[in-house]
Amino acid sequence: MAIHFGVDYYPEHWPAERWETDAKLMQEMGIRVVRLAEFSWHKMEPREGSYDFAWLDEAVKVLGEKGIVSILGTPSAAPPAWMIHKHPEIQPVDREGRVHGFGGRHHDCQSNATYRSYCRQMVTNMAHHFKDNPYVVGWQIDNELGNSHDGLCYCDSCKAAFQKWLAKKYGTVEELNKAWGTAFWSQEYNAFEEVIPPRLTAAGDNPSCLLDWRLFHSDLVLDFATEQIDILRKMCPKQFITHNCMGFADTINYYDLGKKLDFVSHDQYPDGYFVEGSHVAEHINAAGLDVIRSYKQQSFWIMEQQSGITGWEMMGRNPRPGQLSAFAMQSIGHGADAVVFFRWRSCSMGEEQYWHGILPHHGNPDRRYYELQRLTQNMFSLMEEMEGATPASRVGIVFSFAQNYAIRIQPQVPDFRYLNFLWDVYKAFYDLHVDVDFVPEDGEFDKYDLLVAPLQYLMSDELAHKYTAYTEKGGHLLLTFRSGVKDRTNICYTDGPLPGKLQDLAGVSVEEYDPLYDISQSVSWDGTIFPVKTWADVLKADKDTQVLATYEKEFYAGAPAITCHPVGKGACYYLGCDPSGGLMKELAERLLSESGIRGNGNADPGVELITRSKGEKTWLFAINFTGENKEFHIAPDYERLGSAGSCENGDTGEESLLSPYESRVYVKTMG
Ligand code: GLA
Ligand code: ZN
Repeated sequence: MAIHFGVDYYPEHWPAERWETDAKLMQEMGIRVVRLAEFSWHKMEPREGSYDFAWLDEAVKVLGEKGIVSILGTPSAAPPAWMIHKHPEIQPVDREGRVHGFGGRHHDCQSNATYRSYCRQMVTNMAHHFKDNPYVVGWQIDNELGNSHDGLCYCDSCKAAFQKWLAKKYGTVEELNKAWGTAFWSQEYNAFEEVIPPRLTAAGDNPSCLLDWRLFHSDLVLDFATEQIDILRKMCPKQFITHNCMGFADTINYYDLGKKLDFVSHDQYPDGYFVEGSHVAEHINAAGLDVIRSYKQQSFWIMEQQSGITGWEMMGRNPRPGQLSAFAMQSIGHGADAVVFFRWRSCSMGEEQYWHGILPHHGNPDRRYYELQRLTQNMFSLMEEMEGATPASRVGIVFSFAQNYAIRIQPQVPDFRYLNFLWDVYKAFYDLHVDVDFVPEDGEFDKYDLLVAPLQYLMSDELAHKYTAYTEKGGHLLLTFRSGVKDRTNICYTDGPLPGKLQDLAGVSVEEYDPLYDISQSVSWDGTIFPVKTWADVLKADKDTQVLATYEKEFYAGAPAITCHPVGKGACYYLGCDPSGGLMKELAERLLSESGIRGNGNADPGVELITRSKGEKTWLFAINFTGENKEFHIAPDYERLGSAGSCENGDTGEESLLSPYESRVYVKTMG
């Protein structure tokens, strides 16, 4: 598409006389695309039914004439005051019955029929107006669907939609009663109309209801997006459709959304939000990019990439010279075909006055502009060549929205989070510089030589069979504690010991379990002692199961903690505890060597080594995220490309030494 760098631009925040200057500065910086209008409902429809696109036409044209194309956002994340005034019922209601009102954004209920109808009209009008505009190349649906809807909406309209969704899922109310275990605490329903959203209760909740509530909400938001997608698909066949997702955010199942989009986009803020020290660990940033690529199993766009200090009421740290480039290179290394920076210029007004853009408030280019200009210049032709390339990952980590919901509903041990555990597992592979994909439960397992399936808490016969078939064919599988505990409606498995339907595959049974709290527990693996935390499954190994580690303490000292069960041509490993102190890395090394997988090299902590492949070529990115020189080593058949990336601190002149925030790209051609 020859579009690789862009900015999020808000021409409506500035006098029209400035647009020309902005377009020129963008052009000189190597910007080829802007995203516009995703919060501009009132500017486009200042009064009900009276549309005004003239200002946007003009902005699109001024930019277009400088070679900068546009992506238009549909403005449904910010319904205007006139609409809310006329139809206050559009506003969402939280669990405690409080209305979340106008004055911020996302003050809408996505099941509300009136709001839906306004959205359809707006999208239809925008589509009609812009479908043949040669400068408009694509659409972004809404903005960060699920952001601010995280608390979900409990209004009467959502109640009715929930009842309808349940009727469709269960058919009869008897089935619903069974699936939710409503015999407990006399919660039986005689009709779907009696079911209400899980609002504030006098005491406790029904975990099965809570799970369906989250699944319902994901479908609801998906349906909200789909209405807009359908209109645009029909009316604008020449333009692409995407959405800016938020990594692991879970209000909407992004695998489902991905199927409806031409490509997935993502918003990447490595410095996190609002407060100093909120910098997100590099491996979590990396995992967020890998999961975005995995939603559609293809390369993606960054629709918002950090371009300065982040901040609302509070501000984050000032990115050091070279650091923004290193962040952007990380996005590219994990599969971004285009990087759109949020945002062009720091805004003088509103909640996000301190969320800094490429340009400072005064609008004249300074350090950040020149740094990112060097990046776009250095990377453009390589981005062009790499378009569509993705890592040839041989390791898959199963990531499931439903498992995440279920463990969020019942963490079981204080502060235990599905995602934190997933990231800990990911980190072991990240530290070994191994490329990893995330895989949905209904995804293609056989592509991977090693499949890591953390916390397979909700289990079905179908999924258990799928894991077994994968292993029998020669796959290496890692299962963990809290697997096979429940069925898919969150009811506990009772037909035998855990891991329930996975017991034969794992070759172990869980005789007891011990939530560890402050108990210090450890395991012994080949004579080395490693601490473990959170949880201990006390295992009994089948005859043909090899015991890799045993517990050191408590009444179950000597019992198996980690095992390996040969199955067909492959093997199923079982991890009964939450590893710390290097144990996960130890286990990952073993799994990798058993699966014949090697990493991309080795490096000091703070250096990332990742690859993207296409055809016969593989590009390796080496990125230093620290402010110090760092050493790294990769295979000798990689050849270094010129001034790829950008580093304010210069090249160290040494082959295996990266200067602060330096990134380099290497290439190797097969055969
Ligand atoms: C999100 C949103 C943007 C902006 C930035 C910064 O990613 O999509 O509109 O609010 O955060 O806060
Ligand atoms: Zn609602």
